[in-house]
Amino acid sequence: MWNQLPEVQAKVSEFISRHSAVEGRRVVLVTSGGTTVPLEANTVRFVDNFSAGTRGATSAEYFLDAGYAVIFLHRQYSLQPYSRHYSHSKNCFLDYMTTNGQSGEAKLPSPEQSPKVHVDPEYESAMIDVLLKYRKAKDQHLLLMLDYTTVQQYLLYLHQICKIMGTLLGRRGMFYLAAAVSDFFVPKARMVEHKIQSREGALTMVLEQVPKFLKPLVKDWAPSGYIVSFKLETDPALLVPKSQQSLDRYGHQLVIGNLLNTRKWTVTFVTRESHNNVTLTPAEQRDGVEIESVIIPELVKRHADWIGVEKR
Ligand code: PMT
Repeated sequence: MWNQLPEVQAKVSEFISRHSAVEGRRVVLVTSGGTTVPLEANTVRFVDNFSAGTRGATSAEYFLDAGYAVIFLHRQYSLQPYSRHYSHSKNCFLDYMTTNGQSGEAKLPSPEQSPKVHVDPEYESAMIDVLLKYRKAKDQHLLLMLDYTTVQQYLLYLHQICKIMGTLLGRRGMFYLAAAVSDFFVPKARMVEHKIQSREGALTMVLEQVPKFLKPLVKDWAPSGYIVSFKLETDPALLVPKSQQSLDRYGHQLVIGNLLNTRKWTVTFVTRESHNNVTLTPAEQRDGVEIESVIIPELVKRHADWIGVEKR
């Protein structure tokens, strides 16, 4: 973990320097996916937080569409921008291809016929859209991908990235914290080295509380940044009060509340002054509209206002 830090710092510094030099370019840090809590130093078992990385990966694409440069800090092997359309789906990626350029191959060619691989025409037009966006992000160096696995690694990288962004970008930096971060961990001093043995019967472990990082982020690491955190609850009655509590406690700009079972079509924007729901209509849901296509343009506007306040 520590030995990868200089590489991460160098990549982030290069990325931020490049984009801070571009007039008007805004940069967003998107965090995405769950964090693990290892139970053993040689880790066989770990506790995990729920998150496939859908929110983060989807949001990153809409930020890129809006002209942002994106640092995508994600859990290793969770969903990623652009490839998410073809990974983790019911289809195997090979289902998007044919050997003769036509859907529904009746007869498979033999290897001796040296068949060529083509995209299945059924998927071609959707794939072209994704491919062009992906190539643009790549060719213009607009997307920096960094991965983590454990909660310790996540916090270490988050700290470094926020400090660099805070120093070089000021109000042009946005922090979009969609990762599902563990509240509990096993401190190194109390962690056993080898695999915990089952012969001793039931396992009792005490997990310590992970320090709340939002406080130093808002106060010290990136005090001028536009900071958006997510709040995940399962009890609807708690969503708004807990989001407001988070704003009171940490003093950042916005909490986006979501419930586990409805997160794909409804979220609540909570500020110190107000709270309002954003919900996809049944028709939008049927048509496959992604709620991030509504969330991100709204954030782009709010971020512009935040930058405007400094200029006035
Ligand atoms: O990836 P998907 O499957 O699409 O799921 C997306 C999501 C539901 C995971 C996402 O939309 C979401 O809600 N992410 C935040 C989940 C979460 O960690 O919620 P929380 O209520 O535990 O934490 C609230 C806030 O406190 C978070 O912004 C977190 O960054 C912050 N926190 C958490 C732990 C910690 N030690 N310090 C913190 O400051």
